[in-house]
Amino acid sequence: MEIAVFSAKSYDRQHLDAANAAAGHQLKYFEVPLDSETVGLAAGHGAVCIFVNDRADASVLGALARGGTKLVALRCTGFNNVDLKAAQALGIKVVRVVDYSPNSVAEHAVALLMAINRKIHRAYNRTRDFNFSLEGLMGFDLCGKTVAVIGTGKIGRVFAKIMVGFGCNVIGYDKYPSPEFEALGGRYADEGEIGTCADCISLHCPLTPETHHIINAEALSRAKRGALLINTSRGGLIDTEAVIDALRSGQLGGLAIDVYEQEAELFFRDLSGTIVDDAVLQQLITFPNVIVTGHQAFLTREAVTTICETTLRSVTEFETGKPLTNEVSAS
Ligand code: NAI
Repeated sequence: MEIAVFSAKSYDRQHLDAANAAAGHQLKYFEVPLDSETVGLAAGHGAVCIFVNDRADASVLGALARGGTKLVALRCTGFNNVDLKAAQALGIKVVRVVDYSPNSVAEHAVALLMAINRKIHRAYNRTRDFNFSLEGLMGFDLCGKTVAVIGTGKIGRVFAKIMVGFGCNVIGYDKYPSPEFEALGGRYADEGEIGTCADCISLHCPLTPETHHIINAEALSRAKRGALLINTSRGGLIDTEAVIDALRSGQLGGLAIDVYEQEAELFFRDLSGTIVDDAVLQQLITFPNVIVTGHQAFLTREAVTTICETTLRSVTEFETGKPLTNEVSAS
């Protein structure tokens, strides 16, 4: 099948080409993201393959349908960037990668937590300048602390398991509690207890209308003073301006994010030679107790290999009329 691959980076090409040796599709790579201006590039391709910041809203999907596209294959887990109702109305199927390596994202969340707590980002910069002062680098033992996991799905549970291994008291919050989370040593708690007790909060729920700005001024005011906040899920879970206020006042002790609400215009690009027109992100990046990574939590060899193989397998299922194992449809 002819597949237009948008937002294609070198690692996408490398791993998709490797997976395609067995799948045998025709891949056309476009470095630009899919949006209303670039959608014309997909004309004549039966499938498009998109990533987290490509935009498949109703108007883009309409243009895709007119160009002959019948399948949108997300090479990621989240699907908040696709208008599923519009896709259904247009007869376009949508697939995603439900399960690749929850370890990749969970381990990155742990790396961010460790780094922000022990100020590794600051130590790294100092020692490159032969500054071996320890002033301002004190962290705290994670062992014995309370870590809250918001969203105890696949990634949240791997994160929780690692934190249990560290000797933390792991509490969780999920709309649909899972016995597996409790079996690995976690305990469900209500929002009040999470606020009062959690030394660290890590976000692992999807972005939905319900979870949009789940971390807002009110939630932050309930949090334990000096708590650390980690977000590897979606930027829209956090009201970034409220978080900046909480960092300024010391209510929040540190923030480490792999995702940012306005990342679509910024992430996955080298903007080092430009003045970035985003005052909120500029401000965040100046804070010594903030770490930002550019949506790289998924980026391990194992995860990307599985993502590419699963995506192409879904296209083959579609092409051969088989049931779509990884279909996502409007509920
Ligand atoms: P999952 O579907 O296994 O788990 C999500 C959990 O969130 C479920 O247990 C669900 O019940 C819970 N949830 C849903 N609505 C909720 C609510 N209103 N309040 C509390 N919990 C709620 O998903 P998985 O695989 O663990 O992924 C989680 C998220 O991680 C994805 O939605 C995606 O946004 C993000 N992600 C980020 C990546 C990165 O590279 N930074 C890569 C992959 C995923």
